[in-house]
Amino acid sequence: MLKDIQAEILRLKKENDICILAHSYVAHEILEVADFTGDSYALALKAKDVKQKTVLMVGVRFMAETVKILCPDKKVLLAHPQAGCPMAEQMDKAMISEIRKEHPEYTVVAYINTTASLKTVCDVCVTSSSAVNIVKKIEGKDILFIPDCNLGSFVKQEIPEKNVTLLNGCCPIHASVEEEEVLEAKKAHPEALLLVHPECKPCVAKHADYIGSTAGIMKFAKESDQKEFIIGTEMSIAEHLQYECPDKKFYVLSKKLICRDMKLSTLMDVYNVVRGEGGFEIELDEDTITKARHCIDEMIRLGG
Ligand code: 13P
Ligand code: SF4
Repeated sequence: MLKDIQAEILRLKKENDICILAHSYVAHEILEVADFTGDSYALALKAKDVKQKTVLMVGVRFMAETVKILCPDKKVLLAHPQAGCPMAEQMDKAMISEIRKEHPEYTVVAYINTTASLKTVCDVCVTSSSAVNIVKKIEGKDILFIPDCNLGSFVKQEIPEKNVTLLNGCCPIHASVEEEEVLEAKKAHPEALLLVHPECKPCVAKHADYIGSTAGIMKFAKESDQKEFIIGTEMSIAEHLQYECPDKKFYVLSKKLICRDMKLSTLMDVYNVVRGEGGFEIELDEDTITKARHCIDEMIRLGG
């Protein structure tokens, strides 16, 4: 039955000229029918080269908005209309414009997990995999990093020569993990390496053997000679890794690491969209696209 639905999706996406991009946090059966899967940086880069008329993003809204900004002439659909990222909504344009007025010296660096509207008043975007590399290359010394203070702390620690100011945003999922949970997981699996996403709090990240993006964590685990890993990011990553590396063992750092928004999109949603029903079309006005694009183009230029 599952295989039948997947086969129909593959047939219909071809027939209807649809490219499916899926973030690595979505379910395995969706990744299997996608044209491309990866972390948010890889998805943004891929979006530029899509040939199909329509792009279906299986992930959260800011990812679909990024595709629309990069390919304004394409029809861009989000698989589930309610799939947002709570962190992306934590700060708005008015708030950041006000800070910019008071501090014209800041280069404003926006994590890609922000709305298109907020990106219009920022200088450059970063993702978790590209943040350190990009911030290092920024000419100015004074950086305002928004919205994630945990990724921001990681950047600040890696680039002490910059003056990085942070605000109070965070990912409610990653930031919910406490240090005690790390200590318990390490006690339960003393041989395992701890791999964490930089959205986790510094008290968690300081115990990590590796800190990196979704794709970075997967690459590290696949290439490592070690056999056991505690995965400190959305729990789907432990599951995908277990499929890909059956001879290794993966443990979820905390059962709280489940992103409800990423889980909203199901294989049935994908099926419905490719047959012309459901989904949510991303529409952005021209001014927003032009201004937000500058921020994403800078990310690609500096990240390259
Ligand atoms: P990546 O940049 O690792 O894809 O992370 C996106 C995200 O939303 C993490 O919570
Ligand atoms: Fe947003 Fe956190 Fe979910 Fe990533 S895991 S999409 S940052 S809420």
